[in-house]
Amino acid sequence: MSIRAGVLGTGMALPEKVITNRELEKLVDTSDQWITDRTGIKERRQAGPHQTTSTLSIEASRKALDMAGITPQELDLIICSTISPDMPLPSTASFIQRGLGAPACCAFDLAAACSGFLFGMTVAEQFIKTGKARYVLIVGAELLSRYIDYEDRATCVIFGDGVAAGLLGPVREPHGILASEMHTDGQFAEHLYIPAGGTSRPASCETVQGREHYIKMKGNELFKVAVRSLEDVSRRVLEQAKVCPEQLNLFIPHQANQRITDAVRQRLGLSAEKVYSNISRVGNTSSASIPICLDECLRSGRVKKGDLVLMAAFGAGVTWGGVVIRY
Ligand code: ACO
Repeated sequence: MSIRAGVLGTGMALPEKVITNRELEKLVDTSDQWITDRTGIKERRQAGPHQTTSTLSIEASRKALDMAGITPQELDLIICSTISPDMPLPSTASFIQRGLGAPACCAFDLAAACSGFLFGMTVAEQFIKTGKARYVLIVGAELLSRYIDYEDRATCVIFGDGVAAGLLGPVREPHGILASEMHTDGQFAEHLYIPAGGTSRPASCETVQGREHYIKMKGNELFKVAVRSLEDVSRRVLEQAKVCPEQLNLFIPHQANQRITDAVRQRLGLSAEKVYSNISRVGNTSSASIPICLDECLRSGRVKKGDLVLMAAFGAGVTWGGVVIRY
């Protein structure tokens, strides 16, 4: 029997502070009705000033390690998927490594926005299958509230803060990752981006005054690409895994918009009970979205040993990816 990479543990950390749709009504020209109808979101979390991407990551990672029964000293690799790092340099993964006390392992950041956790799983899978690494920690970590313009109703209602981690390690067939894919299409790069703060628009008084350090999104144009890509990658990984949609126990899509989830679900011919959704409670937490769902499902028993689970994500880049596991 060959060795596969499998999920051994998960953990999450959400900031305590809740921002409801009603509170956003006071900041921008929007309504609870519009947000609920157009996105499915009722509330999202917002980190406090004392919290950073790495502090919440360390909290979530400790829970994932506990569930797996693995010590930080046993880790070979930490991948932090984030587009909202503690700072531009060094990587947030370095702070996570230090905070966990995992001196022996390599740690780096991965920037693939909402697809990042699944990209991280795919990278980890290669290391584990080849024996290059045994235990890999992947953290999906976003404090997007720090990059949100609370004067822009097109984005401030969508995104929320949150972090979740997954500990991957070697497992025996029939468990583990059955198929995985990752894709990027840079032609839509400016559909979702932060214009300034990098080498093309270094930070200056002008960029700050122009609100160029905040996320800009052409949501409507991304919507169609998201639905198409999520359906396509889901079908591709299911085929590779030799799993029909009817055999799935659960589909965990990236929580971008309830209408995107519903459209993909219908295209795949899945019943509503087979699709996980928590967007009403946490909003779009980018790369934390899928691992938060996975952690909720594992801890509540919604996903049990032997279950077939499809995960698919789409995000800035644009990027998209899919993973099928037998837990
Ligand atoms: N409240 C009230 N009205 C609003 C709001 C709001 N918060 N936001 C936009 N509107 C208005 C618009 O101004 C527009 O008004 P108009 O018709 O008078 O011009 C109208 O509502 C419709 O706007 P659309 O942008 O067409 O609204 P849509 O139904 O597409 O919903 C949304 C917008 C929720 C952003 C949706 O397009 C979406 O979810 N897109 C996908 C986003 C996505 O997948 N991103 C990638 C992942 S995230 C990541 O990678 C970090």
